[in-house]
Amino acid sequence: PLVLHVLGARPNFVKAAPVVRGLAELDVPQGIIHTGQHYDALMSDVFFADLGLPEPLANLGVGSGSHAKQTAALLTGLEEVVLEHDPGLVVVYGDVNSTLAAILVCAKLGIPTAHVEAGLRSFDRAMPEEVNRVVTDSLADLLFATSPEALSHLAREGVDPAKVHLVGNPMIDSLKAALPRLDAKAVRHRLGLPEHYAVGTLHRPANVDDADAARELVTAVAEVSRQVPVVVPLHPRGRERLAAAGLVTGERLSVIDPLGYIDFLSLVRGAALVVTDSGGVQEETTMLGVPCLTLRANTERPITITHGTNRLVTPAQLPAAAEKALADGAATPSGDLPPLWDGVSGPRIARVLAAWLRGDNLSP
Ligand code: UD1
Ligand code: UDP
Repeated sequence: PLVLHVLGARPNFVKAAPVVRGLAELDVPQGIIHTGQHYDALMSDVFFADLGLPEPLANLGVGSGSHAKQTAALLTGLEEVVLEHDPGLVVVYGDVNSTLAAILVCAKLGIPTAHVEAGLRSFDRAMPEEVNRVVTDSLADLLFATSPEALSHLAREGVDPAKVHLVGNPMIDSLKAALPRLDAKAVRHRLGLPEHYAVGTLHRPANVDDADAARELVTAVAEVSRQVPVVVPLHPRGRERLAAAGLVTGERLSVIDPLGYIDFLSLVRGAALVVTDSGGVQEETTMLGVPCLTLRANTERPITITHGTNRLVTPAQLPAAAEKALADGAATPSGDLPPLWDGVSGPRIARVLAAWLRGDNLSP
């Protein structure tokens, strides 16, 4: 039976690549459906190239829109393509609208599903991703958890523990595989950055969709740029609003297009500090030991705080927190790295999927 991976957004590609590779090694027939949620070359094509992902079987081209419009287009497009390919199993990743739509379509068609990155919770239902996580986990037949606290979250929501597998983090597989190709110096030179610099990313609706929040944030980032030159590879979401709030290239602040995966990680690896509201970047900085300040009130990835370099900050706290992080220098992760973030989560997931496809009893 065919395994279909439904992917739509930048972080999906990074999480799926190791699973696709793992299944290929086991000769499991598979294909990718790209929903087209992300469509700019720098948000999509560059990841397929950098991660060595195979060409999708189809790109649904759903594009952008309100949550309702985008989700409706996803549902309609996915139903058709799933019926056409008649998969034995559909694998979804993370917490984006493409993930939600795919799990819903498959649940209604009676097609089994697996969710990679199950059980993360910010407990903040104002976050669109939190809604997607809860719904996705309630419908998935196989759930792959990246960190141990996910197991108790899922148990509390009534998910049968027999369906849940703690496998570590495939995003870390992609990072580890990329390490030999990272070249901070080359990217830094290309961008005209000095040796000591900070990297910023911003795209959460709570930060960039509201003019007041955006202004507060941009003021705080500008203050950091007085301490250390800052480069911001900017996600297209909220670009205009952030520019209107003053996030524009200046002497010590450089606002650029999103970077490809290898270029971005190169830059992060060489950075003195990262300021972000991304989910994945909290994990990557933890792994690389680069200090990370997260501009959010909560995180679904607390393990990056307890086992890593991440701190949550308000915009008001950012300048002082940056000063301290820069003075403390390269962060030694506070103890052991998260369990099973060892670079072989993809093969681990692939083995469980292959066993499930064979009909093996997976109960512990
Ligand atoms: C989505 C995910 C978010 C994830 C992020 C990763 C949802 C609800 N959110 O947010 O969890 O962190 O992807 O990057 O699924 N746009 C472009 N070009 C593109 C894609 C988007 O210009 O290739 C612009 C459009 O103006 C669009 C906006 O970005 O309206 C938002 O895109 P969308 O996919 O709806 O959500 P993201 O903010 O990217
Ligand atoms: N990323 C990238 N280029 C950029 C910014 C981010 O390649 O300019 C990568 C980053 O390394 C990580 C992923 O994109 O692997 C995270 O995606 P994003 O922050 O968009 O989404 P989130 O993780 O918040 O859902």
